[in-house]
Amino acid sequence: MSDAATLVIRNIGQLATCDLRRGTPPGVIERAAVAAAGETLIYVGPEAGLRDEIELAPECGEMDARGHAAVPGFVDSHTHMVWLGDRAADYAIRATGDSYAVIAQKGGGIRDTVAATQAGSLDELACAAHERARRMLRNGTTTVEVKSGYGMTHDAELRQLEAAESLYGASDVPDIVTTYLPLHAVPDKDREGFIESVLREGLPRAAAHAEFADAFCETGAYSVDECRRFFSAARTCGLGLKLHTEQLTRTGGTQLAAQFHATSADHLEHAGDNDLRALARAGVVGVLLPGASLTLGGPPPPGRRLQDAGATVAIATDCNPGTSYTESMPLMTSLAVALAGLTPAEALMAACRGGAMALRRADRGILAVGMRCDLVVLRDRHWLDVAYHLGGDVVASVVRGGHMPNG
Ligand code: NIG
Ligand code: FE
Repeated sequence: MSDAATLVIRNIGQLATCDLRRGTPPGVIERAAVAAAGETLIYVGPEAGLRDEIELAPECGEMDARGHAAVPGFVDSHTHMVWLGDRAADYAIRATGDSYAVIAQKGGGIRDTVAATQAGSLDELACAAHERARRMLRNGTTTVEVKSGYGMTHDAELRQLEAAESLYGASDVPDIVTTYLPLHAVPDKDREGFIESVLREGLPRAAAHAEFADAFCETGAYSVDECRRFFSAARTCGLGLKLHTEQLTRTGGTQLAAQFHATSADHLEHAGDNDLRALARAGVVGVLLPGASLTLGGPPPPGRRLQDAGATVAIATDCNPGTSYTESMPLMTSLAVALAGLTPAEALMAACRGGAMALRRADRGILAVGMRCDLVVLRDRHWLDVAYHLGGDVVASVVRGGHMPNG
């Protein structure tokens, strides 16, 4: 018999486990229950089997899901949620005037966010991020990746990472994973000096505060060759690799991500089928960001093509002030179905297990014995409600690491 349960959730009408060993995705168990000892699941199965297998600790918490559905906690594997200022005016202009790229060329867009974020104190950054992270947890996200990228100076980049780190212990936010994204906005002058300084000083300093390194490989941002130098240096510092690529144009960044066996390649709207096959062969997770595609009005994320190429697919919010102002993973699953051609089951898997793979977190994204107890109880009886209820308030309660932060 395993450890005594410290949390039991009964009366789950449909439990979508995202565990492929359970048969047809998303591996649904009807009339289910789960139990956890501390952070770890010790029972996932029919409620009828719970009593025979599990002993309850005296202080065991109990939750009645009242016949509602439950799914794994969402893993949002791509966000820029530490920023100050806003880009509401850009948003309005893009509806009738300049594009994202033109606004950036004219010196606005991302540079406005850099200016506001650079000037912010650690406290101001942490407060802004905390507020967004709270909304994420309320929307069912139990793990979130947080990038720097609006600092431009080493100190300001590190301040963004420290703001993310300040949320580590908070009980009302998702579990946090940090990524250093120094090659994002482009400096006004001395581009080469800037890149060299990132390689020599930025990366070694950031390695103590981040698990991944990321760059914006794009026409008008950083070239494939520059990103190659960055990847080599980042790998030497022990950082995992990610790349924003093929978002606005095709640059060939996906092939670079494949050559380096990066953990993920993100966006991919302009990637060709060969690019997507290269990701699949190299074991690189493709992270789709349908909020950015929708906001910018470009081609849809290549969900169907990526899935058919055999790659692991993740979906994420890209939460940022310029191209995807959302904290909602359920909305991203709806868009992944509507825009990217995923089935609802594929979209749910991509929001949970795919996200976990994009962050090298093998212990989550699936509801199975031995995995982390990160789970969302829905307001509806059917797991399909996650994607089906467009923009809906679909989450009833969230369990993170075996605890109910908002329950
Ligand atoms: O993922 N593409 C680059 N970076 C962000 C946008 C950042 C911004 O415009 O503030 C993205 O879409
Ligand atoms: Fe992004």
